[in-house]
Formats: sequence, C-alpha cells, structure tokens
Amino acid sequence: MRLAVTTGNVVDEVHRQRAALLAARFSVPLLPRRNLQKMADDDGVDVFYIVRRMHEELRIAGGESALVQPGMMPTKLQQGEHHPFIRAVRGGAAGRRDDVEIVFDATLGLAHDAVHLAAVTGAEVVGCEQSAVLFSLLEEGLPRIARGTPRTAAWAQAAARVTPHLGHSAEVLASMKDDAVDVVVLDPMMSLTRRSAPSFSLLRAFALRDRASPQLLRQALRVARRRVVFKLGKGAPLPVNRSIEFARHTTGAHVVYWVHEKHADTVFDDA
Ligand SMILES: C[S@@+](CC[C@H](N)C(=O)[O-])C[C@H]1O[C@@H](n2cnc3c(N)ncnc32)[C@H](O)[C@@H]1O
Repeated sequence: MRLAVTTGNVVDEVHRQRAALLAARFSVPLLPRRNLQKMADDDGVDVFYIVRRMHEELRIAGGESALVQPGMMPTKLQQGEHHPFIRAVRGGAAGRRDDVEIVFDATLGLAHDAVHLAAVTGAEVVGCEQSAVLFSLLEEGLPRIARGTPRTAAWAQAAARVTPHLGHSAEVLASMKDDAVDVVVLDPMMSLTRRSAPSFSLLRAFALRDRASPQLLRQALRVARRRVVFKLGKGAPLPVNRSIEFARHTTGAHVVYWVHEKHADTVFDDA
C-alpha cells in the first residue's frame, strides 16, 4: 500500500505541522491537499493519512476510512458485565469476578477492546501498538474521544484511561516487572474472524501480522498477576507452539476469548 500524508481542506498551522511530523515518522510523502482522487491518480497513492481539523483518519480515495471512533461500543456497553470479553478478563467462566485495576493490551489496534474494558471495569489500560500509522491514529483519537461529544459520552472517561505505547509488545512486556498488571489481553492479527467493520481491511493493511510467539506469551504470563486472555476468531486454532495452555474460554458471536489462569493452568517449558 502506497501511503501519503495530507491535511483536510481547511486547517491551520498546527495541523500542517502535525502532518509534516507524521510524514517524517512514516517516511512517506507529505502532499499539499487537492482533490483526493486526483492526488491518488497523479501521485500513485493508495491510502491517505489525513490530518483534519476534527480528527485524523486513514482513507482510500472514494472508498473506506478508518479512525478511532465508538463503532459497536454502545451495543457492547449495554451488555455490561455479561459481555464474554469482560467475563474472560474478570475470570467469570470459573464463577469468579475479580476486580481488575490495570490491564495490558498487547495488541491495541484502534483500541475498541481497550476502551470497552476500561468503560465496563473502570481499569486503567496500558497498551501497545507496533504500527506507527495505527499508533498515530490512537495518539490523536484517544484524547479526542476523552474530550467527549454527546455521541461518545459513554466512551469519554474510559478513553482517558487508555495509554498507548508505540512498539512491539514482547519488548514492552520484557521491560515490565513481574505481576505488574492484573491481566494481559492479546488479539493478534491471525484469526479467521468475519470482522465486517468497514475500517477492518484498512487496519489489516497496516497492522503487524505477528502470530503470538512462545516468548510473547511467556512475557505476558510473567507480567500478568491473574490471567492472560487471548482473543481468536471462532474456529481459529490456538498457536501450535504456544508456551502456555488456555484451559477455559468464553464465547462471543464471532470470537472466542481463551483464558490462561496464572498458577493454575499448564505452562509448557519446551515451547
Ligand atoms: C486484531 S488487531 C487488534 C484490534 C484491537 N483488539 C481493537 O479492539 O481495536 C491487532 C493489532 O495489534 C497489532 N499488533 C499485533 N501484534 C503486535 C505486537 N506483538 N506488538 C504490538 N502490536 C501488535 C497490530 O498491528 C494490530 O493493529
């Protein structure tokens, strides 16, 4: 995918400077704004990172876009504590409901899961995203959501509790202390989900396609005080060479949340 950075049609100096910073960060051209389709045709660009006044987004000329936004959040929030992700994180399938104060999200993406978790449990979520493009959307989008609008009010306080870091989660976890967080959650780009959100194919184009390595799972377990939760598409297999076993799961419409309970489930020494 050939990427370029541009601005919205009406911006001020702050936005032009942000666009220049991002073009340098991504090592891609910074193009003065014209008609997007003409820019795509003339400059051979597939996807634009657009710094607008109101928000930043990825956009294919005449096609789909991706930005940090509520998405399915209102529906998810309605399910509250009953949502399978929340039950997995709190240990619900075993009849327990642990408090969680701090969670590490090893695969932030556009932070739908992180904000969902923060909204329902009240936890702080520290997260990690390897893609500089997706991290930049988070860097702009989380504070924007946290400022709140009537449409995103339910999200606002939760978004303020999500802190994104740019980097590979195995490295970030390796720098953290044992038992530093209650739960580590992972949603790697490896599953066969039927995710149909329009933004998902754009997300996929820039996402790191890393299977969860034995080292990453080992680090996740070391840093988690209670459990590791691993999200996969329904029917997608757990990694064959996993270093920890996921003995329980909760099931959503299209995904399964696999749970490794620390000090209870099997750890494979040879993986
Ligand atoms: C399936 S998406 C996660 C979506 C996320 N759960 C959400 O709710 O928006 C996977 C994301 O994790 C990132 N990722 C995958 N492996 C990673 C790793 N080891 N370290 C950091 N980020 C990673 C990808 O770049 C991608 O953006």
